[in-house]
Amino acid sequence: MDARDYFGYKNPDEEPGGPDPADAADEDGDRPPLFEEAVTLDDPATLRRIDPDDMLGRVMELPGQLVQARHVAAPITLDERMTDVDAVVVLAMGGSAIGAELVAAAAGDRLRVPLIVHRDYGLPAGAGERTLVVAASHSGETAETLSGFAAAQERKLPTAVITTGGRLAASATAAGLPLLQYRLGGQPRAAIGFGVGLVHELLARGGFIDGPDDLGAAAAAVEELLERIGPSVETDANPAKQLAWAIFGRIPVIYGHGPMAAVAHRWKTQLNENAKAWAAWEPMPEANHNAIEGSINPRELGEALYVIQLRDRAEPPAIAERYRVVEELLGERSTNRNEVWADGPSVLSRVLTGVAYGDLASVYLAILYQTDPTPVTLLAMLKERLARATGSDPTGAR
Ligand code: F6R
Repeated sequence: MDARDYFGYKNPDEEPGGPDPADAADEDGDRPPLFEEAVTLDDPATLRRIDPDDMLGRVMELPGQLVQARHVAAPITLDERMTDVDAVVVLAMGGSAIGAELVAAAAGDRLRVPLIVHRDYGLPAGAGERTLVVAASHSGETAETLSGFAAAQERKLPTAVITTGGRLAASATAAGLPLLQYRLGGQPRAAIGFGVGLVHELLARGGFIDGPDDLGAAAAAVEELLERIGPSVETDANPAKQLAWAIFGRIPVIYGHGPMAAVAHRWKTQLNENAKAWAAWEPMPEANHNAIEGSINPRELGEALYVIQLRDRAEPPAIAERYRVVEELLGERSTNRNEVWADGPSVLSRVLTGVAYGDLASVYLAILYQTDPTPVTLLAMLKERLARATGSDPTGAR
């Protein structure tokens, strides 16, 4: 049973929101939309009304951003002090951090040195002369990232910067650091093509990723997927819309293994920020040692859970076997669940198609909740209140 059963229709022809012949005679064309008219994912007017800043359009731009990222990175050169290092640390938060996490997940053991994503103030323990520090912030104004950047500058560590502007761009320019500056208005999480593409290109140009360059092929795979699950494809032929309906009213828990664990993390954050919904993610096989048990209580909420398993056709047989047993156990207890298979010729393609799928599903879910996906009101309020409390001190020390 999914939410379309709950609302009493399944066939798109029956979906409310389409022009009602009775309305033609209705003189009151300006009346506010009825609730049931809003609950459709197949009416462009409804999508525009609930998503006025076009977050759906932003998701559709992902392949284009990947291509643009390559142009932004093309003139960048990294000297020996930046490339002859033992580790790369990316300082970033939220939508700016997940790009590096996805690149690390996709590159796997093709990475020449460990890539650490530091989501906190300051620098991680162990960062030193032989660490390349990359400060990545869409706004260039994030307190935690600015604090780590300041610490790296103070210790004169090799540092590069990825941003659209703000204090980070100004400091990088003043210090003559490699600066990958891109232009994109709107929300940081909607710049994921730059987030992934620029970190990928920076690392590739520094010789940190071995093996073939698969960014172009990945962009093509995402493009192809978006054609199949984008907003113009109606619900009955669109598994991402169907998934949004299935999650509606429930708390999604996303499982992923290896590279798909990072994708599961992205799904969770997009469901939070776009659909303004609770969500959790679990890495496999670790989830088999705890999360599987946690679906029992409180019993009254059993129906409220929705498990999504992000599968990769290249996953090891031991993991496939684990998923089989999990499926058996969840099935015996009728836990709501679904599988999403990532497609594409390389790990990067599968990671990015997985991201695109989740990004769209999260915006579709926002629309079903009749919630504008773009603004992050609580997040902005939190930043504002913190800034008031700490003044302009990026370390937050005050
Ligand atoms: C908002 C979003 C946030 C930000 C985070 C850090 O769309 O995705 O998670 O990314 O608050 O801000 P930036 O990216 O400007 O450093």
